[in-house]
Amino acid sequence: MKLMIVVGARPNFMKAAPILDSIARHNTLLANVSEKIHPILVHTGQHYDAAMSDAFFADLNLPRPNVFLGVGSGSHAAQTAEVMKRFEEVLLREQPDVLVVVGDVNSTLACALVAAKISYDTDGNKPLIAHVEAGLRSFDRNMPEECNRVVTDHLSDLQFATEESALKNLENEGIPKERVFFVGNTMIDSLRAFEGKAETSNVLQRLGLSANRGADESPRKIRPYVLLTLHRPSNVDSRKAFLEILEGINEVTASYETIFPVHPRTRKQIQQLGLESYFVSSNPGSETVMPGLHAKAITLVEPQGYLDFLCLMKYARLVVTDSGGMQEETTCLGVPCVTVRENTERPVTLTSGTNVLGGTSRDDIRNAIRMQLERKHETVIPTMWDGKASGRIVEVLMRQRSRFEHGDRLPKESVCPV
Ligand code: UD1
Repeated sequence: MKLMIVVGARPNFMKAAPILDSIARHNTLLANVSEKIHPILVHTGQHYDAAMSDAFFADLNLPRPNVFLGVGSGSHAAQTAEVMKRFEEVLLREQPDVLVVVGDVNSTLACALVAAKISYDTDGNKPLIAHVEAGLRSFDRNMPEECNRVVTDHLSDLQFATEESALKNLENEGIPKERVFFVGNTMIDSLRAFEGKAETSNVLQRLGLSANRGADESPRKIRPYVLLTLHRPSNVDSRKAFLEILEGINEVTASYETIFPVHPRTRKQIQQLGLESYFVSSNPGSETVMPGLHAKAITLVEPQGYLDFLCLMKYARLVVTDSGGMQEETTCLGVPCVTVRENTERPVTLTSGTNVLGGTSRDDIRNAIRMQLERKHETVIPTMWDGKASGRIVEVLMRQRSRFEHGDRLPKESVCPV
């Protein structure tokens, strides 16, 4: 089986890495050559900065991509179109049996759309499309990711779901049940695989949050801190929206040191919107925050690699974020999280986990933070988030392989309009 898997942006890397790992394990354990999976890793280059891409390849032991498309940034249309143009050539050249796309970024949609319309030959042969993290819905079409999710799901032959709400959503949208597989969360596979290694990160020491280095030097004394990330256009592209959030968090930032690993687009927005006075920067280069010096301020640091960031999340007193994946990761780490959004496509993190929706108005955010700082109840790890999702995906793909070996594609019947 020739399997092509696509990554493009930061949140894709930790979702794809364990699938490649499971494929490698499957290939090692299987004596039968005909049952081996031949993986091809494609990186679209949607994210290209060393801190947004290379660092994750190193931390997650991802192999070098077999193909790098180098698309870079652009408007949604330009970026999606550029991925499509470049990916079509690769797909026609490689002709994989299966295309795996993960998550909800523009690269996910672009590659699924190319594969859905491709013909390898005059018989109309094409790859089976598998979507990992299918069925999540915020029901907010103003989010670019929601558009990407809906379209990708409806173009895919196999939908791999992370939580039960996704099964319901796919059923409501008329996706046939036999295409949907509840396998768990590959992002959590990465978390479980790397949390031990993340313990040895010296990021807390580098940022002046702890005098000790890592797991080997106990007991580790850590100054309580809040971890903040914001990058959604709806939160950081308008001065009014961004200020509302800064006002909403000012109470907690007055009490706790706040570390803000800042996305490049957010850094640009801080400058463009003239909001620099709300932040201090860590020493460029050394990235050291002098202990105590910047307490009660929001400290901007560069985007962190996977292991350092995992360590920062694990030891945070509170996480405040508009990220999708961090809602899931904090739930698994048992760290209280306030999501600065009006909705979430990951409701299991609210019902079982440690996440609450803080909304986007100052009062709501402040109240959610107060509530989370007093939080007592424990998190419940969602069903199937056991670090074994990627293994299940490989098993399902092997079971489905007769479909493409015999040219017996899943019927592409139209489903209910959404
Ligand atoms: C993308 C995803 C979003 C995900 C986020 C994680 C889409 C629609 N959005 O948003 O779902 O949560 O990644 O980070 O796919 N930039 C750099 N260096 C880089 C990458 C980006 O400077 O390596 C800057 C550029 O100014 C670029 C901007 O960030 O224009 C936005 O990048 P883009 O890939 O379009 O979307 P993200 O905001 O990163």
